[in-house]
Amino acid sequence: MSDAPKSAELFERAQRVTPGGVNSPVRAFRAVGGTPRFMVSGSGPYLVDADGRQYVDLVSSWGPMILGHAHPAVVAAVQAAAAGGLSFGTPTLGEIELAELIIARVDAPSLQQVRLVNSGTEATMSAIRLARGVTGRHRVVKFAGCYHGHVDALLAAAGSGVATFAHPDSEGVTGAQTAETIVLPYNDLAAVEECFAAYGAEIACVITEAAAGNMGAVAPLAGFNAGLREVTYKHGALLIMDEVMTGFRVSAAGWYGLDPVEADLFTFGKVMSGGLPAAAFGGRADVMGQLSPAGPVYQAGTLSGNPVAVAAGLASLRAADASVYAALDANAHTVGRLLGAALDEAGVAHQVQYAGSLFSVFFADAPVTDFAGAQACATWRYKPFFHAMLDAGVYLPPSAFEAWFVNAAMDDGALARIADALPGAARAAAAATAS
Ligand SMILES: Cc1ncc(COP(=O)(O)O)c(C=O)c1O
Repeated sequence: MSDAPKSAELFERAQRVTPGGVNSPVRAFRAVGGTPRFMVSGSGPYLVDADGRQYVDLVSSWGPMILGHAHPAVVAAVQAAAAGGLSFGTPTLGEIELAELIIARVDAPSLQQVRLVNSGTEATMSAIRLARGVTGRHRVVKFAGCYHGHVDALLAAAGSGVATFAHPDSEGVTGAQTAETIVLPYNDLAAVEECFAAYGAEIACVITEAAAGNMGAVAPLAGFNAGLREVTYKHGALLIMDEVMTGFRVSAAGWYGLDPVEADLFTFGKVMSGGLPAAAFGGRADVMGQLSPAGPVYQAGTLSGNPVAVAAGLASLRAADASVYAALDANAHTVGRLLGAALDEAGVAHQVQYAGSLFSVFFADAPVTDFAGAQACATWRYKPFFHAMLDAGVYLPPSAFEAWFVNAAMDDGALARIADALPGAARAAAAATAS
């Protein structure tokens, strides 16, 4: 054990200088209670915290680390890029290569140009601005339970009826900022059609997670994404497929590789930057050509296309070959199978749901297809389940509404640790009572 301060001491210290002690809310463990673990290193499928405890990591930095932590090729690429200069504020070759690689891997006729930004939030915010600029319309449709970053207009809760205007879902967001947002139930095409019947001529875009991962894993029902394509096309609105979470994780081409629906705009993040801060949005050349400096829709970034982040993204995508995707699928299904078996054995009603290799558990009797269904689950079972796993050295998402992210580096030892931990955690979930 090292002399380094322990997580509890660090958390106390962090809370003095950082709101809630964290730089992104879910890290604070509020949904599960207890002290967030301060990590000091990661290697392959494992993380080590400030107390020297090792965990099998089923969060993978919320998605980016498909290769596992500190993958040698990615680390070498980052070191080489850093040694060559950290940022130039000029175009670089790497940015072209990353854009070309993203376009080639997705291989969608409608993905012809890409712009690099710094976060998924920036990607969705910019895509919406572009959609409004291109269509000359103002309204945006999103789905309850889908998260697209902390864009003001998207921090919105549904109005009183289907297709009524949204309310702010955060203090600091004004009614004016959400007044042009319409929040509909996920997987409900009839609601989308009703909404377009009422406001079709005013709707600039529909934004949807390609497969929802931010209410737990909730895949689009068969035909849902295709239906969105049809309705938006018919009414002259753009379809924005948010692949920040699914992109280059659920297949080499992201969700598009599993369900090839042509969006007008795609957003990417996480895997494409290998764990460093970079993201992207892209679409047809005529749409993207409306962005500054080529066109009138303003968008910019001092560190956009940063050479170190681009190097990490390029190295990650280049290393993510067919064997990596086979390992992600196999690991997700192994863990999901073990999870289901442990909960069966403990007599806990559950659904292990997949969206490609994203998955999560809902404590429910029937499959969950939307946010209302996710909220109706016995989420109070998750807290003791989570802590039993944590105590046994398995780091799960500290919230019942998050997807689990495997990586391709998980070895027999990591899977065995999960297998050993699950029965006790399932019994803890069984013993939980609603509070
Ligand atoms: C689908 C989706 N879109 C956008 C975002 C926002 O990305 P970022 O956290 O990089 O701003 C996220 C973040 O989790 C996401 O899951």
